[in-house]
Amino acid sequence: MRSVIDILDLTVEELDGIIATAEDILAHPDAYADKCRRKKLATLFFEPSTRTRMSFEAAMLDLGGSVLSMASAASSSATKGESVADTAKVISQYADVIAMRHPKEGAALVAAKNAEIPVINAGDGGHCHPTQTLADLLTIHRRFGTFDGLTVGFCGDLKYGRTVHSLINALVRYRDVKFVLISPEELKLPDYSKQVILNNGNAFEEVSDLTAAFPALDVLYMTRVQQERFADRAEYERLKDTYILTADKLTGAKENIAILHPLPRVNEISVQVDAHPGAAYFEQVKNGKFMRMALILFVLSHNDGQPVDLLPRWTGTETPSHVCKNPTCITHTEQELAPVLRDGKCVYCEQ
Ligand code: NCD
Repeated sequence: MRSVIDILDLTVEELDGIIATAEDILAHPDAYADKCRRKKLATLFFEPSTRTRMSFEAAMLDLGGSVLSMASAASSSATKGESVADTAKVISQYADVIAMRHPKEGAALVAAKNAEIPVINAGDGGHCHPTQTLADLLTIHRRFGTFDGLTVGFCGDLKYGRTVHSLINALVRYRDVKFVLISPEELKLPDYSKQVILNNGNAFEEVSDLTAAFPALDVLYMTRVQQERFADRAEYERLKDTYILTADKLTGAKENIAILHPLPRVNEISVQVDAHPGAAYFEQVKNGKFMRMALILFVLSHNDGQPVDLLPRWTGTETPSHVCKNPTCITHTEQELAPVLRDGKCVYCEQ
């Protein structure tokens, strides 16, 4: 059985296959209208969401399946103290696939280890968000026809922005992709993510000036400063408007630049930019549904009833004597869950 904790759970060939399926669904939606008849998707969202949840639900409905969901996290048994592991075991008795969002890093891995059905991570804390990456990949692919050789700028909250971490994990596996990391000092990309770039031999530079970075960029990936992940409110207030993209700043950009943003936007992109031909963020929303349709088909077709086949990166040595240094790691709240270490890092949160 296959679950998707992060985009690395899919090989490049599988990613290319999912893109091809999504393109085919876009061209022939009727051919897919019954593919998931009698199948159920459970959406378990323990954090706010508009796009991701509705996109998953629309994807399953457009495949002819149905959807089970909780009205809100506040109405689930999590408020009574039910663990993620028990929730995953319970939902496995009702549905065929789970899409889960949770505020703790590593929650999706806990669910995947305990569920009897495939689990798709719809965002775990500041860690990963692979299905947003699928939306991003299809958008870039439809604009450029390739990922090879592109220079991609990531701007804003690179520390807590889980969509950034997952998109980097995907792009490093294509040829000669260069990264420009644009952020204030306090919101720089975490070391584990920088290590991914280095391990794959890609080039990256860290800068703080967006305007100066523009001329080199094929893709600019803007992000929101992730208010909900800040322990210190004053720090958020100080950093929230560090970057605001306005139409006049785009004069230094390449003619065919693509501007992406996972949304929701707060102040980072002025509405004037929406009319620029490079603005691709509403295309991302549309593409996200087709990629989620393709991913649901992929995981359902790989469900052989066997336990989930986890990548080595999600396995390691259980260390009951250890406490993870990351205060928002799932190991701090899940009952009797000890950190699992691999290469000195906790596999749940990778910190
Ligand atoms: C993103 C998320 O939840 O991480 N939103 C989304 O899923 N499209 C980005 C964000 O909230 O800033």
